[in-house]
Amino acid sequence: MTDFDLRYESYLSTFENYLNEYASKLQTKPEILGESMKYSLQNGGKRIRPVLALACAEVLSLPVEEILPFALALEMIHTYSLVHDDLPAMDNDDFRRGKPSSHKAFGEANAILAGDALLNEAYAICFNECLKGEKYVLASQFLNECAGVYGMIAGQSADLDCSDNQKEATEKDLAYIYEHKTGKLLLAPVMIASLLSENNHYLPFEKFGKLIGALFQMTDDILDVTGDFSKLGKTVGKDETENKLTCVKLYGLEGAKIRADMCAKDCHAVLEGIDGDVTFLNALVDYVLDRSK
Ligand code: IPE
Ligand code: IPE
Ligand code: MG
Ligand code: MG
Ligand code: MG
Repeated sequence: MTDFDLRYESYLSTFENYLNEYASKLQTKPEILGESMKYSLQNGGKRIRPVLALACAEVLSLPVEEILPFALALEMIHTYSLVHDDLPAMDNDDFRRGKPSSHKAFGEANAILAGDALLNEAYAICFNECLKGEKYVLASQFLNECAGVYGMIAGQSADLDCSDNQKEATEKDLAYIYEHKTGKLLLAPVMIASLLSENNHYLPFEKFGKLIGALFQMTDDILDVTGDFSKLGKTVGKDETENKLTCVKLYGLEGAKIRADMCAKDCHAVLEGIDGDVTFLNALVDYVLDRSK
C-alpha cells in the first residue's frame, strides 16, 4: 500500500464508523424506509466527497469532529442524487455500486422515498450543527446552495435538457452541466472545511474545489466508455444509449483524455498556492485522473 492508499483508508474508516453509528440509530416505521436508505448509504462507494472533506479539514487544522457531520450530510445528499439519477425516468440504470439500483431492489416508489428521506436527514444533521453558531449556519447554507436549485439539481435538470439531442449542445452547456451536477457537490466539502476553519484563503480552495469537480465528471464520462462493469459497479455505455451530453461526445475520447490531463495539471498548479501539507490532495488529483472505478 502506498502512503496515499493508507491515508485514504484512514479517512474512509473514520467516516464509515461515523456513518455506521448514524445508521445503527435509524429506526423507521415502516422498516422498509430505513432499509432502503441504508441499502444505498451503506453500500460502499468511493466516498470521495467525505474523504475530500476530511483531507481539507486536516490541511486547515480543523478537528475531524467539526467536519464529520457535514461529511455525512453531504454523502447522504450525494447518495440520494444517485438513487434518483438511476430511476427509469432519469438515467434508467439497473446497477449502482455493484448491486441492483434502489428501484430494482425496492421498487420505484420506495426508491423515490428513500431519496427524499436521505435528503431530509441530511438537513436534519445540518440543523443540529446550526445550533452551534454562525459558521455552522454558513456551512449549512453553502451545502444547501450546492445541492439545490443553484447546484446539483440545476445540473441534473440541464443534463436532461441536453440529452436526446433535444437541442444543439455547446461547450457552454457542457461546462454548465459539469459545474452543477457534479462540481457543486465536490466544491462543497472543500469550502465547508474552509468555512468552518475560518481561514482567510478561500480563493485557492474554491478554485481547487471547482477544478477537481470538473476533473471528476470528465473521468466519469471517460469511464462510461472505457470502464469495466466489475470495477465501476454500474452499467457502461449508458451515456451513448441515453444520448447524454458528455465530454466524450463533444471532444471524442482522445480529446476528453487530453482535457482531463490539462484539468489535473490545473489542480496541481492551484494546490501550489495553498499553505500547508497538500501531498494527499495532490495524490487525490492523480487518483481521480487515473481511476478505474
Ligand atoms: C457518481 O459519483 C456520480 C457522479 C457525480 C459522477 P461517484 O463516482 O462518486 O459514486 P460513488 O459514490 O463512488 O458510488
Ligand atoms: C450523475 O451523473 C450526477 C448526479 C447524480 C448528480 P451521471 O449520471 O453521469 O452519474 P452516473 O454515471 O450515473 O454515476
Ligand atoms: Mg445522470
Ligand atoms: Mg447516471
Ligand atoms: Mg456518468
